[in-house]
Amino acid sequence: MILILDFGSQYTQLIARRVRELHVYCEIRPFDLPLDALRRMAPEGIILSGGPASVYAEGAPLPARDVLELLTTGAPPVLGICYGMNVLGQAFGGEVKRAVRKEYGPADLRITRFDPLLALGGRSTRVWMSHGDQMATLPEAFETLAASDNSPHAAFRHRERPIYGLQFHPEVTHSVDGKEILRNFVLRVCGAKPEWTMRGFAEAWVPRIRERVGARRVICGLSGGVDSTVTAALIHRAIGERLTCIFVDNGLLRAGEAEQVLRVFRDTMELDVRHVDAAARFLENLHDVEDPERKRRTIGVTFIEVFEEQARQIPDAAFLAQGTLYPDVIESVSVRGPSATIKSHHNVGGLPERMRLELLEPLRELFKDEVRDLGRVLGVPEEIVARQPFPGPGLAVRIVGPVDAERLAILRGADAIVQEEIRSAGLYGDLWQAFAVLLPVKTVGVMGDERTYENVIAIRAVTSTDGMTADWARLPPDLLARLSSRIINEAQGVNRVVYDISSKPPATIEWE
Ligand code: XMP
Repeated sequence: MILILDFGSQYTQLIARRVRELHVYCEIRPFDLPLDALRRMAPEGIILSGGPASVYAEGAPLPARDVLELLTTGAPPVLGICYGMNVLGQAFGGEVKRAVRKEYGPADLRITRFDPLLALGGRSTRVWMSHGDQMATLPEAFETLAASDNSPHAAFRHRERPIYGLQFHPEVTHSVDGKEILRNFVLRVCGAKPEWTMRGFAEAWVPRIRERVGARRVICGLSGGVDSTVTAALIHRAIGERLTCIFVDNGLLRAGEAEQVLRVFRDTMELDVRHVDAAARFLENLHDVEDPERKRRTIGVTFIEVFEEQARQIPDAAFLAQGTLYPDVIESVSVRGPSATIKSHHNVGGLPERMRLELLEPLRELFKDEVRDLGRVLGVPEEIVARQPFPGPGLAVRIVGPVDAERLAILRGADAIVQEEIRSAGLYGDLWQAFAVLLPVKTVGVMGDERTYENVIAIRAVTSTDGMTADWARLPPDLLARLSSRIINEAQGVNRVVYDISSKPPATIEWE
């Protein structure tokens, strides 16, 4: 495994994803990980991430003294990126200074010395820089491997030991050969074997779950999304009918969605699912709630109440399974601190404590794309595995203003048309999300000979790789025309359709 010590860079998660893509297991830990914990992990290589601080500043984040000593031995091999590079340079007596000019953006890297790390089949490559500090003098123990116009030591290594520093960020896609550089470090320098596969993951976890659960029972809330479904599929593979799933239909799902996911859960996956139709209760609690955050809280609290009532009817339940993913875990252990805990919609309130349930979170080590792969290995149907994300509070956050049965019906109708047309245009898989939003304004129109005064539907379609940033999708004009005319003709009470052309940031994907 590869250990990544996190000094607070916004790109730390990306490093981990790149290593996982090489089929090598890796974990992110805070920069001050104690030596004995590090030794227990037995890493085959260590990567020091970038970070916003300056190594020469008072109180700069540094590894524990004995960890730093270990790092300077080069056993296991070490790669410092940006701030991590400065940590290594300083440890060997090099001088890190504020650069005359900050360097941000693309730069051409000229490779000046042959080394396995930069074996890229060429002498130069485009890389992404983002730094204000740089190595002013290179320690005697190091030699330069590559330079850019502004960074004379953009890549260096220890003359004898496998200790490397990179001024640029190989983990971002703008560094053209970045993946190759990380591959060289992980596979060639560290000698890690690319053996981390989802088939192997499933084979390792099935007996582990079986042993931990013993003869007891597990309950799992299913939402229809990828994470909870794959969690259930894995646990089902391990303990079969001792898994009971609860599907709370909050009445805020898309047209036909509840029926569709239930059919898949029951018929294809053969899960034992209790279906709770709580639509009326959710609608009642949402009555007159306009503020988006209050909406989310109301839905969250109602969900917990309904789920808990159901869970109490399963008296022998000993475990609660949740589809917590690695990004949620990292947020709570990384240097950004435990303040950013698991997202509220993932977490069923205080239920585990109140019901004395143990938590079972078998996906805690995985990234989303790995969860999709695992789902495929476990035979979860593609219609669930390849789903676009859908927010827990569902259509409620796509009805700007108060939610009621009538407005839900209007939005549901319009959204069904968006889904259908996007799929038949073959664009479903290319888009991160595509959906309809119902606005709280009425506008004037004319139909036949009559003046109308009806609702506005906004269409939102975005491309994104992780939902953190997004761009509006350049949908073909013909498709937009078809969407508009079908929504106005077929959905009840709509006389105007608009297309949202905002990127995130500064807008968000959802309208609330
Ligand atoms: P925003 O609107 O913040 O959305 O750009 C980013 C991603 O998160 C989803 N989202 C949510 N998911 N509960 C969820 O389960 C929520 O309250 C929620 N709000 C936003 C959104 O659909 C997008 O994929």
